[in-house]
Amino acid sequence: MSRILVVGASGTVGSELVRLLQARGHAVAEATSRAPTRSGQVALDVVAGTGVDAAFAGVERAFLLAPPGYTNQDELLRPLIDAARRSGLRRVVLMTAMGADADEAAPLRKAERHLEQSGVPFNILRPNWFMQNFNTFWLHGILNGGTIALPVGQARGSFIDARDIAATAAALLSGDGLANQAFDLTGAQALDHDQVAAILSRVTGRAIRFQDIAPDAMRAGLVGAGVPPNYADFLVMILGYFKAGYSERTTDAVQQITGAAPRSFEAYAADYRSSWLV
Ligand SMILES: NC(=O)c1ccc[n+]([C@@H]2O[C@H](COP(=O)([O-])OP(=O)(O)OC[C@H]3O[C@@H](n4cnc5c(N)ncnc54)[C@H](OP(=O)(O)O)[C@@H]3O)[C@@H](O)[C@H]2O)c1
Repeated sequence: MSRILVVGASGTVGSELVRLLQARGHAVAEATSRAPTRSGQVALDVVAGTGVDAAFAGVERAFLLAPPGYTNQDELLRPLIDAARRSGLRRVVLMTAMGADADEAAPLRKAERHLEQSGVPFNILRPNWFMQNFNTFWLHGILNGGTIALPVGQARGSFIDARDIAATAAALLSGDGLANQAFDLTGAQALDHDQVAAILSRVTGRAIRFQDIAPDAMRAGLVGAGVPPNYADFLVMILGYFKAGYSERTTDAVQQITGAAPRSFEAYAADYRSSWLV
């Protein structure tokens, strides 16, 4: 069994990944940018660049991500990839985002390239939009107005359950197969936001509806909620890609890697039902 570093260990994907890796018998170093409060946690702040060498000490494999809120993902991830190379890691799994490889100049793509060229056996996971956004980022509007307000029109997205991303990462971190490959991760089915709202309404018994809004209104709402302006611009830009149809594609990567079909939106909604009850 390996000692595996998980960056973002308390997050949506990372917390499930930690659980799955521990269930497989691995020792997990749970990175946190906060002061560690229990054994198993290691201090690592990828924005300040502190704790990197200590976090990689004794580690054989690692899961990396750039925390949300930052648009210089290449600058944040490069020191981690360099530490993985210095430590001779057997596998690094880097989570970026579906579409990251569409623009060679994009910061996330630059981070991917740095890993590809590092000599470290790697996987890049590019998930589509998470189902869990509906119980986190978009929760406030659902709870307060019964509304999912986004500038995405009737475009569809093959939303993925973050638990399936974690299962895919756990499988790749537990062996030496499928090295040096990138995978786009999606759910099995593409839905538009009217269909999402209908599923959430059915599961909760509440009237939840989708409202198509202008990109400027989205940006103003994000900045008003405290999102840094440059990250709000980034989010509005990628929501524009969603509206243009780039999130509709489905892949069979989750099934191929884990052996199990990705969860449906209905299954996700049933599992998270209590999130949307007022
Ligand atoms: N949401 C989507 O639809 C979507 C789609 C595709 C890709 N993604 C990618 O998914 C990633 C986010 O994953 P997630 O949703 O699982 O995370 P999350 O739930 O937003 O949690 C963020 C994690 O980052 C850690 N973190 C925050 N600041 C940090 C710092 N300075 N140094 C080290 N760690 C820090 C936090 O832990 P501590 O507070 O303990 O430090 C936490 O575990 C992003 O890279 C995003 O681009 C998201």
